[in-house]
Amino acid sequence: MSQFELKDEQNHPRPQVPEFTQMIEKSISRRRFLGGTAALGATAFFSVSPLSRAVAAATGTSPLLGFSAVPTSTADTFVVPPGYKAERLISWGDPLFSGVADFIDGGGNTATDQLGQFGDNNDGMSFFPLDDHTAILAINNEYCNYELMFDHQGKEMSAADVEKAQAAQGVSILTLKKSAQGWQVEKDGQYNRRIHANTPMAISGPAKGHALLQTQADPKGERVLGTFNNCANGMTPWGTYLTCEENVHGYFGSKDQVNITPAQARYGIGPEDAGWQWHHFDERFDLAKNPNECNRFGWVVEIDPHDPTSTPIKRTALGRFKHENAELVVDKSGHVVVYLGDDERGEHIYRFVSRNKYDPDNAAANRDLLDEGTLYVARFNSASDGELSGTGEWLPLLFGEQGLTSENGFASQAEVLIHARLAATHLGATTMDRPEWVAAHPTEPMVFCTLTNNKNRGVADNQAVNGPNPRAENNYGQIIRWQPSNGRHTDATFNWDLFLLAGNPTVHKDNLYAGSDNINADNMFNSPDGIGFDKAGRLWIQTDGKYSNQGDFAGQGNNQMLCADPATGEVRRFLTGPIACEITGLAFTPDNKTLFVGVQHPGEDLAGSHFPLGGDHTPRSSVMMITREDGGIIGS
Ligand code: FEO
Ligand code: CA
Ligand code: CA
Repeated sequence: MSQFELKDEQNHPRPQVPEFTQMIEKSISRRRFLGGTAALGATAFFSVSPLSRAVAAATGTSPLLGFSAVPTSTADTFVVPPGYKAERLISWGDPLFSGVADFIDGGGNTATDQLGQFGDNNDGMSFFPLDDHTAILAINNEYCNYELMFDHQGKEMSAADVEKAQAAQGVSILTLKKSAQGWQVEKDGQYNRRIHANTPMAISGPAKGHALLQTQADPKGERVLGTFNNCANGMTPWGTYLTCEENVHGYFGSKDQVNITPAQARYGIGPEDAGWQWHHFDERFDLAKNPNECNRFGWVVEIDPHDPTSTPIKRTALGRFKHENAELVVDKSGHVVVYLGDDERGEHIYRFVSRNKYDPDNAAANRDLLDEGTLYVARFNSASDGELSGTGEWLPLLFGEQGLTSENGFASQAEVLIHARLAATHLGATTMDRPEWVAAHPTEPMVFCTLTNNKNRGVADNQAVNGPNPRAENNYGQIIRWQPSNGRHTDATFNWDLFLLAGNPTVHKDNLYAGSDNINADNMFNSPDGIGFDKAGRLWIQTDGKYSNQGDFAGQGNNQMLCADPATGEVRRFLTGPIACEITGLAFTPDNKTLFVGVQHPGEDLAGSHFPLGGDHTPRSSVMMITREDGGIIGS
């Protein structure tokens, strides 16, 4: 059964959830204490009503949330609520094929080993059911921790080490089989595949073949090797997987003199890499020798996980930036809409609308829907009454319109897409506090986006405090949501509000840094990042935050996953991760009885984790599989 069918957990047509307008009213009334915040600055704090906090603390009554909250944790374990069980599905380095070496602690594996093993730093993932006992799990492998991957901890890199790092990221595609013991990875399963930084890929859409995408190795600009820094994801109703290239700038550099263009600078590309050292051993990543290679990354890549021989396709119509995820909805008009975040301080939220319509009866006709359409960027207007809500509009990134012309540096639609950030600025898009994942409600026209944090808010010239980003030096983050006008994801306008402001009410009193009133001492967290809905409309929230448990983050513990009811605003902590990890990536089975969750980089920076195996073992990113002991619906 497709995840896109809107059924409840018993496979009945879903009852209506409250009208969005009612939810907005409710949420605004919950946040009356925030009234008058239109011109918030670093020093303009507003008083928090003790009553509203007491009310929020007492609202443990959501009909959607049926589990007992777990406390924060600083332990090196993965903790789920009473009545739940968590098992390890797969970890970095586990072989996907017979004859491939097992993982060796302390960096003993080679690049060849890694090409046949599960990649490192698992992130976004999607579950593709085939039948009751067979499925495909496609999972991103975002980056590497050299301090854990190499015995020299990255201090004595060689060409072979760079090859290993290139093999460890990209995407892992796993065949899953279900037995009485639950879902397991099938070694040598027919769909098993590793996609990595040297896998041949096609470039399609408006930027295909553009001069900025041409290199010596690919003079036509339509074929590229690989994908890396694959952050979050998306899936399409025609059965493909979308993997999103995020911090790709950090792989390029040069020891030689290079002229960095303003456009390259806007994408963070310069002679200094992020420490990955690829350009020292692989000329493809040397900006002096291959100045255009960097333009061939920062895209959304579409993969057919059902065919291990298929060629992944970079879909340039979705724009080039530091992509977080790609949340795809089929609008009631039939057009496909993809919501996209650009994760950097002061960057933007985007939306793609396909030119053609989705045809549920013709899979082949949908295959290139993501090649033609219009990319838009969001402008958020703040309500004049000072509520943290307002209207917004989608600004089209169209060559020749609204000043996106040669005089302003955009010579074609291809250039508008390759330099989407510059085009967005030209149109007056709103700078945001690091847009991470976007999630669309399964039945209501309502979309949520995590704005994880932004130390530059109120500090950098282009990042004045504004309605959707109301706190200067914001180290807690917030979740914004919007309702498309007329219930149509294709409409040009929307209404928005803030679903929550993360904060720390035990450290900050009577100001916005305490968080909104659905945040309290029992459910607080910082830096929301991964989000996703289950079929019943529970909003799952994962964190990639500061885990110091001190200062502003006192009492917040390790990174975690929470569950929220979008109608009541209640937020409840569902799990906590091990030491120095990020919780990222989630996928449900269609019956919502199994939930896969990613634990990324436990023990980063040699922080002392030995997750998941314990003892003296090297810590390893892992996918955890969560079920209920009574076999029930997760979260209910
Ligand atoms: Fe890969 Fe923005 O997180
Ligand atoms: Ca993320
Ligand atoms: Ca993150």
